[in-house]
Amino acid sequence: MPSAELPLAELVAWGRAFGAALTAPAFIAIRGELGAGKTTLVQAICDGLGVTGEVTSPTYALVHEYGSPRGTVHHLDLYRLRDASQLAQLGWEDLLRGGTIVLVEWPERAEGALPAERRELSLAHLAAQPDRRRLTWTA
Ligand SMILES: Nc1ncnc2c1ncn2[C@@H]1O[C@H](COP(=O)(O)OP(=O)(O)OP(=O)(O)O)[C@@H](O)[C@H]1O
Ligand SMILES: [Mg+2]
Repeated sequence: MPSAELPLAELVAWGRAFGAALTAPAFIAIRGELGAGKTTLVQAICDGLGVTGEVTSPTYALVHEYGSPRGTVHHLDLYRLRDASQLAQLGWEDLLRGGTIVLVEWPERAEGALPAERRELSLAHLAAQPDRRRLTWTA
């Protein structure tokens, strides 16, 4: 898989370009430990998609919905997901079939329920370079 070690400004530029090329329907799984930069990357992707409203971490709501010129964007953070029933309550099946752009932080929490057709983005801290992250992506 391609990867790059990016400082914040370059990660944001990468996310904007990724978002600018993204069309619905799409399901993007965004992995990485706490503070790796998942929400930062989602904000950049949304910027590239043309989302004009504020993009904030859906920590408690688990899902936020934004409008964009390329259709509805759903932003999920499943860190606090309790179980599969809560996933169902969120309208997971509708999210998979709804034809929107779905950006998911902590997809590990729903591992068995992720669609086969998805893009994977992964972020990791670099011990020797605290201002950079290793970004890995599926082509
Ligand atoms: N190269 C970089 N790429 C991304 N974020 C960086 C980078 N350097 C520093 N940061 C900072 O790291 C923090 C990442 O926080 P962010 O909320 O995006 O992480 P997260 O992966 O969404 O965490 P959580 O698991 O809590 O949802 C931000 O404060 C960001 O400015
Ligand atoms: Mg986050």
